[in-house]
Amino acid sequence: MCGITGYIGNRDAYPIIINGLQRLEYRGYDSAGIMLFDGQEINFSKTKGKVSNLQEKVENDISASGSIGIGHTRWATHGIPNDLNSHPHLSQSGDLAIVHNGIIENYDSIKKELISRGYTFKSDTDTEVLINLIEEVKNQENVMLGKAVQIALSQVIGAYAIAVFDKTKPDEIVVAKLGSPIAIGVGKNFEEFFIASDASPFIEYTKDAIYLEDEEMAIVKIGREVAVRKIIDDSNVDAKIHELQLNLEQIEKGGYDHFMLKEIYEQPKAITDTFRGRLLAKEGIIKISGLENNMKKFLNAERIIIVACGTSWHAGLVAEYIFEDFARIPVEVEYASEFRYRNPIITEKDIVIAISQSGETADTLAAIKLAKSKGAFVFGVCNVVGSSIARENDSGAYTHAGPEIGVASTKAFTTQITLLALMALRLARAKGTMTSASYRLYLQEMELIPKKVKQVLEIDSQIKAIAKKYLLSTNCLYLGRGFNFPVALEGALKLKEISYIHAEGYPAAEMKHGPIALIDDRMPIIVIAINKGHYEKIVSNIQEIKSRKGKIIAIVTEGDVTVKEIADHVIEIPEVEEALSPLLTTIPLQLLSYHIAVMRDCNVDQPRNLAKSVTVE
Ligand code: F6R
Repeated sequence: MCGITGYIGNRDAYPIIINGLQRLEYRGYDSAGIMLFDGQEINFSKTKGKVSNLQEKVENDISASGSIGIGHTRWATHGIPNDLNSHPHLSQSGDLAIVHNGIIENYDSIKKELISRGYTFKSDTDTEVLINLIEEVKNQENVMLGKAVQIALSQVIGAYAIAVFDKTKPDEIVVAKLGSPIAIGVGKNFEEFFIASDASPFIEYTKDAIYLEDEEMAIVKIGREVAVRKIIDDSNVDAKIHELQLNLEQIEKGGYDHFMLKEIYEQPKAITDTFRGRLLAKEGIIKISGLENNMKKFLNAERIIIVACGTSWHAGLVAEYIFEDFARIPVEVEYASEFRYRNPIITEKDIVIAISQSGETADTLAAIKLAKSKGAFVFGVCNVVGSSIARENDSGAYTHAGPEIGVASTKAFTTQITLLALMALRLARAKGTMTSASYRLYLQEMELIPKKVKQVLEIDSQIKAIAKKYLLSTNCLYLGRGFNFPVALEGALKLKEISYIHAEGYPAAEMKHGPIALIDDRMPIIVIAINKGHYEKIVSNIQEIKSRKGKIIAIVTEGDVTVKEIADHVIEIPEVEEALSPLLTTIPLQLLSYHIAVMRDCNVDQPRNLAKSVTVE
């Protein structure tokens, strides 16, 4: 994780870097730092805490002048979050400065070697080792910075996105990538360049960006085209300049108190964007080009294996129920982190679907590489266009949810389910596993989902009132069955990650096998009890809870009478087909967690210890 930014050009670098870091804080926010070159000297300031702490410190520490600089916002890996371990790190001579996102795995042996050559270290980080290795190579080989970075990186094992500055060569910044993302914003006539972990820090300055691929590095020099080279053999790479589709409005809060709330409210639009051009309900057509182009593979697949982490894994579980029900293809859902290390059986007849909002999750990326090496066809479901996972797949489809900045995933989840449900419907049609009448019905239902999500959002104040009653809870249980069992898991994850209340999701019938022991008159239990599927069974589960005095918050279908009589609170959602119901039942759970977290004064958009993209394993 971590976010890196840099600027080189004619403007004042400080505000560009600070604003950029603020936009990258979703990647990590336990410490931050900046280095500026004022034409003579390197000035730097770094501190534990957020970018706002850094701003205060800079005012006391340094002159914030200069038109070249690099900055960093950290999610600690090696070394606790403190001022010394914050980036940038300087080399022993003080001439070189680096910011780094990733992990250098063999840093310890390199450090010992450097210590034997007289180097001393101020921090506990792997990054300080890397910058000193670069300096050592530069001195020993008598080469320029670019070459020294290339040689040094060929000696390290691990993952990195780095930006390196050399005070003796102040018209350039050297960047390199392996495993962690890095983008270079190209200014008009190559008069200025912006460097960042993603394009959000520079979208108001340029729409032209180069994304480095793994094992590539670039010398970014004022007045010159960006020279991209392969780290392994120093060969030239013909780097493409991409035109960015992002705009500033998409990455601002737009009047909402938090990004998370904005993103919850964006779901009707995000879901519509997911099926735009793909779902033609009236004509009875679903067209997803990544799927159409590989239809034969999907029709011949003996099995689909879904790999993902966290919320994306929950979307995968929902997809398992939908694919098996609609298209009758066996599906297995795996945590990417387990799959990659457990010697799984994968054959050429398997299709692996990798789900990732960020497209940068290290475990998911590694799982894809493993699946590909065993001959499976890999299909990616990503949100971030051009991300590492999106590029690594054999084929894929974007969810088009727009930037998700709140660390807790919301619209990514519902758009992933939307896209996967469309895929399952399309396959069901092609395989003849669904009648034409059901297929038509689902298409119409799908088209109505955004409107129904909007209806659920309209009862936000009612959900807020319920949140108020339970904000002091210490434990919480979420129950659902069938298609809504993964929603129970997702509801519990949302609550624990942003409010720090312990929560667990369970299939409702499993409650009797253990969790029922937890229930007492202080325990809130959120039950998804819509009128489809195994309604009577879930009503019995609710009764079992009530006999143990648990407090029930039930998500029910509009007009429900039975559950209303037993539950302490009911939240009504519109009538919907069971397979698509997770798209609606999820919404109240997101709002409930959000309000509880706000009332508990938690940092909703940046929960403690978390980061948006988990680019380390
Ligand atoms: C939870 C959350 C995480 C992510 C997980 C995977 O709200 O956001 O659990 O879902 O880190 O991230 P992606 O989807 O980017 O691979």
